[in-house]
Amino acid sequence: MTADPARGRARFGPGSHLLVTGGAGFIGSCFVREILARHDGTRITVLDKLTYAGNRANLAAIEADPEQADRLRFVLGDIADPAVVGPLVEDVDAVVNFAAESHVDRSIHDPEAFLVTGVIGVHVLLEACRREATRAAAGQRATPPRFLQVSTDEVYGSVETGHSREDDRLEPRSPYSAAKAAGELLARSYFVTHGLDVVVTRGSNTYGPYHHPEKLIPLFITNAIDDRPLPLYGDGLQRRDWLHVSDHAGAIEHVLQFGHPGEVYNVPGSAELPNRDVVTRLLDLLGKPWSLVRQVDDRPGHDRRYALDGTKLRGLGWRNRMSFDEGLAATVAWFGANEAWWRAARSGDWDDYYERQYGARLAGSVDAAGG
Ligand code: NAD
Ligand code: TYD
Repeated sequence: MTADPARGRARFGPGSHLLVTGGAGFIGSCFVREILARHDGTRITVLDKLTYAGNRANLAAIEADPEQADRLRFVLGDIADPAVVGPLVEDVDAVVNFAAESHVDRSIHDPEAFLVTGVIGVHVLLEACRREATRAAAGQRATPPRFLQVSTDEVYGSVETGHSREDDRLEPRSPYSAAKAAGELLARSYFVTHGLDVVVTRGSNTYGPYHHPEKLIPLFITNAIDDRPLPLYGDGLQRRDWLHVSDHAGAIEHVLQFGHPGEVYNVPGSAELPNRDVVTRLLDLLGKPWSLVRQVDDRPGHDRRYALDGTKLRGLGWRNRMSFDEGLAATVAWFGANEAWWRAARSGDWDDYYERQYGARLAGSVDAAGG
């Protein structure tokens, strides 16, 4: 890993060993691919349960390069299982926790897994780190592990105006965001109570290659490729601030290296847009007509807007690199070139999920006037 001279010494150098939980998912796998591709000697252990959203194929590029493959260990397992987690944490310099159930719509129907992974799972990881901190204090290892909890802008709830700052009140409104808020507050409590080296990131809506096709951007790209209807919730004027996955992964690594213990850092995107504008741009890039878009019943409790203030992360020396125009065009091209990947992701329980989520909605849909 590289040092940023402006920020002082990086915490983790070449030869460091990271435990990346949820490293076979969308953002976690990007983090793993980008660090290992730097060939600086960093070793990574990925612990992933391979839920419907986890995919070994997301790490295939690493496994195809013997030098990188040598520095990656994949462990199939659950962050909520102390017997799996304990021995893995013994051997690492930091734990970066991406593991979560990540889809708001699924949290509305079926919240339990969100709580088990998002609260109990985080607790198990923190307890393992606490044991290692005790060992470090007793001279049994050089330094205690750093723990980075990957959280979300959704913990602030719907923000009608202005931009959320890190010390604003948390007002999560979905089972997903409530579980994420609980997980990060638990992590912070270990900093306060046990002096654990904890940092938290709150990232904005992320998009890019390997994004599971249940989420807005990849769902609409893949449906449009097949000329299937695009189910736009409600009036489609909800606003999100879009962050390219490689910027999100880079910001997380920057906080891991330079973030101050006990602190939270917002990771804003590069373009705040209403969903309708995102869909218009996607259709333009794909050369598909607006008539594919159907207005369907809204998501219950749908947050109208998320928007982050990025002053604190900028002060730490981080800047996003990817514009939304460039990132979206590259993402559309990636899905066009990786049909086998997304068709495989739309298998298994996909049809059942799709029917439950969209069957009645699409049957009762209306023309989404405009474009
Ligand atoms: P994802 O659903 O693509 O990946 C989650 C990964 O975690 C999968 O590989 C899954 O198999 C694994 N996992 C789930 N439960 C597990 C468990 N109990 N034990 C071990 N592994 C488990 O999610 P993502 O979009 O990559 O999000 C990663 C993290 O970033 C999440 O914590 C999410 O809350 C957060 N986040 C996501 C976004 C976004 O827009 N995608 C924005 C901000 C924050
Ligand atoms: P999503 O990608 O699920 O992310 P989040 O809910 O975490 O912001 O949704 C992004 C936006 O797109 C959100 O306002 C909900 C909307 N949306 C639709 O209009 N239709 C869909 O089918 C999906 C999945 C999302």
